Amino acid sequence: MDAFLIRGPSRLAGTVRASGAKNAALPAAAAALLTDEPVVLENVPGVADVRTMGVLLSGLGVRVEAEDAGRLAMRADAVTSTEAPYDLVRTMRASILVLGPLLARFGEARISLPGGCAIGVRPVDLHVAAMQAMGARIAVEKGYIHAHVSRVSAAAGRLSGAEIAFPQPTVTGTENVLLAATLARGRTTLRNAALEPEIADLAELLRAMGAQIEGAGTPTIVVDGVERLTGTGGRPHVVIPDRIEAGTYLAAGAITGGDVTVAGARPGDLTAFLDALRRAGVEVAAEDGGVRVRSEGPLRATDVRTAPHPGFPTDLQAQFLALMTQARGTSRIVETIFENRFLHAAELVRLGADVKLDGHTAVVRGPSTLEGAPVTASDLRASAALVLAGLAARGETRVRRIYHLDRGYSGMEGRLRSLGASIDRISG
Ligand code: EPZ
Repeated sequence: MDAFLIRGPSRLAGTVRASGAKNAALPAAAAALLTDEPVVLENVPGVADVRTMGVLLSGLGVRVEAEDAGRLAMRADAVTSTEAPYDLVRTMRASILVLGPLLARFGEARISLPGGCAIGVRPVDLHVAAMQAMGARIAVEKGYIHAHVSRVSAAAGRLSGAEIAFPQPTVTGTENVLLAATLARGRTTLRNAALEPEIADLAELLRAMGAQIEGAGTPTIVVDGVERLTGTGGRPHVVIPDRIEAGTYLAAGAITGGDVTVAGARPGDLTAFLDALRRAGVEVAAEDGGVRVRSEGPLRATDVRTAPHPGFPTDLQAQFLALMTQARGTSRIVETIFENRFLHAAELVRLGADVKLDGHTAVVRGPSTLEGAPVTASDLRASAALVLAGLAARGETRVRRIYHLDRGYSGMEGRLRSLGASIDRISG
């Protein structure tokens, strides 16, 4: 099992280019199931989760070709299965994103329940309820969601448009409804939809495939179902830049007292995070078609509270917490989205940080001098936080189980080295 060996402290400086967004590429790939024509995506990140989605789609009979770097060509003209097996779903919860398109186009789906996740229970009840509202019959048995659109109740086995109101915004739940509603009979109105930029990116792809969608990126989305969708024709869909990956490198620049630019990052996707960096005393500028941070003076303790977009992203909470271990004073980090997303705290304490947990709040006192030590990653974003802390720590930090990191970051060690870090991937 791979690990990172990081020698610190280092001061990062320079420019890295933002990759395509993992959390936009996954629903975009699932959209290929909605048509028998080719769907081509570009700026797709080379991360493990995208490869898993490719394996999942191939297992359904979709032709999937990962062509040149960042280009993914898919064609669902000979689908042979509508089952997403446990062995794949348990490695990537986003597999649930095939539920909507399979039901919408084939009238049936058998999807393994995702099972446990380190950061929280993460039920899919809102996905199931939304599909039921659109006329699907769903039973959960033996760990699988069995869903079908009866050919008696819903005309010719098609989903029906519906009024759906989420009690709380859900990102992949919104994406599943968007995907399903494109081929449903009639109008779907989704209220309290998620506002994450990945939603608008999916809607843009679906509209290019002939879908009728209004309001993506706002709390109310209206979809008028159509008979069939086309592919992307001669215009591949270019996936938006990854705001979470960008935020991670900007935090790496800040925690090392450096000067880092993420070219291609969209400041508008990171407003709450960039505001928090500014409050912490980091200089932030939208520059060269990207975002630049400079952190020369002492960092100031800063409170944040995670929230659905455009609030402070939960996927940058761990990285910001690591940053606050180097700030003067006491910071309170409140996690409101996932009930168990502080697994990185105990590992940061192993490096010498002062972090105390109080329910959904982490109380961070700083600045603390971090000393290199072996630490273990528990999930994707926690592992990024440990890497950041390792860059600021004195001596050697060994971050174990970086397979978590590979799920959502491509070539992290190379990018950090290009910014001046001393980091190696080792087996260990
Ligand atoms: C998406 O997960 C992202 N994943 C997550 O990123 C991200 O942390 C999360 O949104 C929040 O921003 C992808 O886009 C692939 P939710 P998702 O449904 O859609 C509850 C990363 O690091 N809920 O918006 O699964 C849920 O438990 C990953 O890249 C229900 O109760 O998150 C949570 O408390 C980690 N029932 C809240 O809603 C449901 O049916 C928001 O979750 C669905 C969700």
